[in-house]
Amino acid sequence: MTWLCDFWRSSIGGKVTMAVTGLLLFGFVVAHLLGNLQLLKGPDAINAYAKMLHDLGPLLWVARIGLLAIFVLHVVTAIRLSRANKAARPVAYSKNATMQASFASRSMVLSGMTVLVFVIYHLLHFTLGVTNPTHHAKKLAGAQGHDVYAMVTTSFADPLIVGAYVLSQVVLFLHLSHGIQSLAQTLGLHHGRYTPMIKKLSFLLAALIAGGNALLSLSVLLGIVKVAA
Ligand code: HEM
Repeated sequence: MTWLCDFWRSSIGGKVTMAVTGLLLFGFVVAHLLGNLQLLKGPDAINAYAKMLHDLGPLLWVARIGLLAIFVLHVVTAIRLSRANKAARPVAYSKNATMQASFASRSMVLSGMTVLVFVIYHLLHFTLGVTNPTHHAKKLAGAQGHDVYAMVTTSFADPLIVGAYVLSQVVLFLHLSHGIQSLAQTLGLHHGRYTPMIKKLSFLLAALIAGGNALLSLSVLLGIVKVAA
């Protein structure tokens, strides 16, 4: 166990931890978006998807605890690496290129913290029903469980909530696109020939995910999806 802690504390161990946890979180956002796209098919599809997840019972809790652990490890390691970077370079560089690199890593911490705030708000909103209890309390007829379609569509009929979700997706786009480029660098794919291609791919993947989430958030206001009766 100590060698694992020593590895995590090392500079390369920290980078590998960021890459592995980042990749797992990326897998989660892709799977979450694919599941949430059921909203576009209508109430039966999204409610059946939510029921399937809830029917996993203890397995769902194992997945939730695993996801939380990965998330915490990602955030704690990012803070440790950022502090170590600052401690190693107490005086700012004066050259432009390095200023750019430090801006990129500083903006990663800022965008990461913003995504963290979004996730906390999102959990309070949809999972715990704290921010909009009336949206969350919607139940399906005949005690068939939670009406996720009604919860999501009544929420996304409110322009203030939609604004918060869409803005969060702009930040998620910035975080994911830069995160994918950092991951490629950690994997040693930083090469004159690959770098422009990796940059394009990172923008495309981040745009697909953030764009998909933004589309879902705007679906009611755009008239793609109807608010539950
Ligand atoms: C418009 C886009 C999104 C929609 C419509 C959406 C919808 C939902 C819903 C309905 C739930 C509650 C599931 C339940 O307990 O029944 C949920 C949970 C969750 N969402 Fe989202 N989500 C969106 C975007 C995101 C994004 C971008 C992230 C991460 C960056 C995220 C992270 C989570 C997490 C961590 C949970 C808790 C999972 C669990 O408790 O099982 N979501 N989402």
